[in-house]
Amino acid sequence: MKFFSLLAGAAAFATSTVAHYTNSTQTGDIDQVTVFTPPSNYTIPRTLYARTLLLNQDCEEDNVILATWENYLYNNNTNPYFPIYQSYDGGKTWSERSRVYDQVNGWGLRYQPFLYELSEPLGNFSAGTILLAGNSIPQDLSETQLELYASTDKGYTWKFVSHIAHGGEALPNNGLTPVWEPFLMTYNNTLIYYYSDQRDPRYGQKLVHQVSSDLMTWGPVVDDVVYDTYDFRPGMAIVSALPFGQYIMTYEFYGAKEVDFAVYYRISNDPTNFNASVGYPLVATDGSVPYGSPYNVWTPVGGDLGTIVVSCGNLGEVYLNHNLGAPGAWTKINTVEPASYSRSLMVLPGQEDILIAGGGVLGGENNSVTVSTVDVKPKAPAFAKCKAKK
Ligand SMILES: *[C@@H]1O[C@H](CO)[C@@H](O)[C@H](O)[C@H]1NC(C)=O
Ligand SMILES: *[C@@H]1O[C@H](CO)[C@@H](O)[C@H](O)[C@H]1NC(C)=O
Ligand SMILES: *[C@@H]1O[C@H](CO)[C@@H](O)[C@H](O)[C@H]1NC(C)=O
Ligand SMILES: *[C@@H]1O[C@H](CO)[C@@H](O)[C@H](O)[C@H]1NC(C)=O
Ligand SMILES: *[C@@H]1O[C@H](CO)[C@@H](O)[C@H](O)[C@H]1NC(C)=O
Ligand SMILES: *[C@@H]1O[C@H](CO)[C@@H](O)[C@H](O)[C@H]1NC(C)=O
Ligand SMILES: *[C@@H]1O[C@H](CO)[C@@H](O)[C@H](O)[C@H]1NC(C)=O
Repeated sequence: MKFFSLLAGAAAFATSTVAHYTNSTQTGDIDQVTVFTPPSNYTIPRTLYARTLLLNQDCEEDNVILATWENYLYNNNTNPYFPIYQSYDGGKTWSERSRVYDQVNGWGLRYQPFLYELSEPLGNFSAGTILLAGNSIPQDLSETQLELYASTDKGYTWKFVSHIAHGGEALPNNGLTPVWEPFLMTYNNTLIYYYSDQRDPRYGQKLVHQVSSDLMTWGPVVDDVVYDTYDFRPGMAIVSALPFGQYIMTYEFYGAKEVDFAVYYRISNDPTNFNASVGYPLVATDGSVPYGSPYNVWTPVGGDLGTIVVSCGNLGEVYLNHNLGAPGAWTKINTVEPASYSRSLMVLPGQEDILIAGGGVLGGENNSVTVSTVDVKPKAPAFAKCKAKK
């Protein structure tokens, strides 16, 4: 309810600050910088699913960027770890900081890492603690285990914290019971651990979360996105805070009428109850519908309501929305970073440049981890604001 009245107001409001983009490639400072090139004896696809984190809770390490990814080692990848790379210059150069090994299962940390820095203390963990969520999976892919690791020294050393969800065989087939793709966000003095869940026999896959106030004990599995048709598979949830206490969740939706794995999104005042919100397809003003492995961030630049930036799995371009996610207000801009499976986005200091991190494509033989920036601040002069309306 509130969503629609707010958007109605926002739509009228935003007409005074229309954003103008040139049609040319938006070149940021960073043009496909290589973070890591795997040796040729790595197991194909070698790298995938890159994630980055901007540290900003500790004066000493503020503005350091950390990166991680799925890392398919040689020797058939028997005990993979999540690498932690570091950049001290905004993403231009990179070096290794640490490796996060599986400390409890003997399976390796194999798929879908996610990095997060606590902005508030939770349980025994102080603000500035670095968290790493990920999927621990044995080499034969027979089980999936979503985990939480923590570093209290900015990512140099790591300790296992807790198990969140255990699932079956690590294949995305309906009828199997894996868990996938964690994403973390603090809310109301808790940590929300979002993930994809195939364990509920009513749904091929659904999106869920669990919350914890101490990172050790976790509440029940709560549905975020479910569809009545068994074969439908919402997946890969990413959540960002928006102005006015709202949150956006993007996800890919196998079952969408627009296209398989269409990028969908929901807006909610309560990031623990996206289930009550309507799912919208992301349809751009040029008619395009992005699909596959979306990611989103919000940045305050680009208009009075800031800018939502959405990446997808099938295009180099990103989609922008200056109107808090209003349907019909999505535009597409070029980037220099090619499409990757589950590219990630991160707002850089200054908030105009978004760092896009890619780990290559599914099955790719020559994948490497690269980053590029895209400047989402409109370049041509904006129309003068209509002061009378404000
Ligand atoms: C805009 O970009 C598209 C795609 O790169 C290109 O085909 C088109 O010619 C460009 N239009 C102008 C006016 O430059
Ligand atoms: C894989 O390649 C790297 C770099 O060329 C080399 O250092 C390493 O020994 C190789 N490992 C195996 C098992 O061949
Ligand atoms: C990888 O696994 C295949 C099939 O199981 C096997 O033939 C091959 O020897 C293994 N390679 C290494 C380096 O362990
Ligand atoms: C926090 O640390 C204290 C002191 O080491 C310990 O007694 C307590 O069990 C810890 N709490 C949690 C939730 O780990
Ligand atoms: C925050 O958490 C408290 C304690 O669990 C709960 O009572 C309250 O409803 C929550 N507030 C919101 C806005 O979710
Ligand atoms: C979630 O939403 C669906 C409709 O999309 C509804 O059938 C279901 O009851 C809801 N679940 C909860 C826990 O509210
Ligand atoms: C990967 O790189 C090698 C060497 O540059 C090249 O021969 C091969 O065709 C590439 N494979 C793909 C799938 O692009």
